[in-house]
Amino acid sequence: MLTDSVEEGSLPNRFRALWDEIAPVGRDEGSGGYLRYALTEPELRLREWFRGQADRRGMPVTEDGNGNLFARWGEPTAGDAVLTGSHFDSVPHGGAYDGPLGIVSAFLAVDELRAAGVAPARPVVVGAFVEEEGARFGVPCLGSRLLAGEITVDRAAGLRDAGGVSFAEALGARPAGARPELLGGFAAFVELHVEQGRAMVDADAPVGVASAIWPHGRWRFEFTGEGNHAGTTRMADRRDPMLTYAFTVLAANKEARLRGAHATVGRVAVEPNATNAIPSKVTGWLDARAAEPQTLTGLVDAVRAKAAERARRDGTEVALTEESATPLVAFDGGLAERLAALLDAPVLPTGAGHDAGVLAAHLPTAMLFVRNPTGVSHAPAESASDADCAAGVTALARVLEELTCR
Ligand code: GLV
Ligand code: MN
Ligand code: MN
Repeated sequence: MLTDSVEEGSLPNRFRALWDEIAPVGRDEGSGGYLRYALTEPELRLREWFRGQADRRGMPVTEDGNGNLFARWGEPTAGDAVLTGSHFDSVPHGGAYDGPLGIVSAFLAVDELRAAGVAPARPVVVGAFVEEEGARFGVPCLGSRLLAGEITVDRAAGLRDAGGVSFAEALGARPAGARPELLGGFAAFVELHVEQGRAMVDADAPVGVASAIWPHGRWRFEFTGEGNHAGTTRMADRRDPMLTYAFTVLAANKEARLRGAHATVGRVAVEPNATNAIPSKVTGWLDARAAEPQTLTGLVDAVRAKAAERARRDGTEVALTEESATPLVAFDGGLAERLAALLDAPVLPTGAGHDAGVLAAHLPTAMLFVRNPTGVSHAPAESASDADCAAGVTALARVLEELTCR
């Protein structure tokens, strides 16, 4: 049952009170960003917090064998539940809102509906998906992909973090994989998320509705050369993979700009990583995204070709591996229009990936965005005002009422 503190005060204040419960968890005092990697201590504490919140609301929690948590309000056998929620995990030194906002807002939306005496004809389920960012095991939306059968159990189980720990080890069991009977129990999924750009600042709107997610993916470039002495190896004799890597980063930037696409190399590993040694190997991860699938394919093909050509000139070798690929997601147009009309909210596409993008191929899915005044995300400056977060909760409650009562 709800405690008085949840029921008291204005919605922005109640949002702040609940938000403050999780705000310190996994926060790095130096950067002000969050280190909430999937199934590590801070994320496990947030999962415990989730169970506590569900418990105080009398919502039984189930785990799907893949690391995803579900708290249910309503009759479990109804079979047409509306799922809402998001994820707790962060990118390294990520912002506070990407993920947790959708979970905190979901619990508060349940509170709003209950306080208004709404008795949904269908269950509402609050979900917390595991490893959405792929920051620990490399594949984004790992929990939703497993649940939907969009990654094999073998591959997911064997993914390893930087310390060599496998996903199965971190989970404590081999993942269960596809759960069609569980997914089939959901009539719709609505993920509320902080906006990750400035479109809603420009639109002067606190809440928006998603139309689409750009196709995107991650590619690992491994550049191999010859490790050698920085002081004694003549420039002409070097086979330096750092040069091929550097050229490839510039080529990715240029090819993306030429196509109106996005390309980022935000992660690099150098071996042996010594100031006075020519590297033997450099690994760079390309994140590429575009509005159209053919633009994305053209971009990655062009970067691959330029890297290979440069490797020939540098006397190095390059190998390319696709680590994940997410196709274009067009959210259910009828649902998006219905929710936009209900909320009088703008409809906008995004270049960011979400569990909603994975589940959209399996059930009617929508996303709500909450305005982010900085427009910054995946960095500590990500933000949202308490008033806008409250507007997000109100919008989500209206959407849940619309989908569960009509
Ligand atoms: C997830 O936030 C992504 O877009 O990479
Ligand atoms: Mn993110
Ligand atoms: Mn997210």
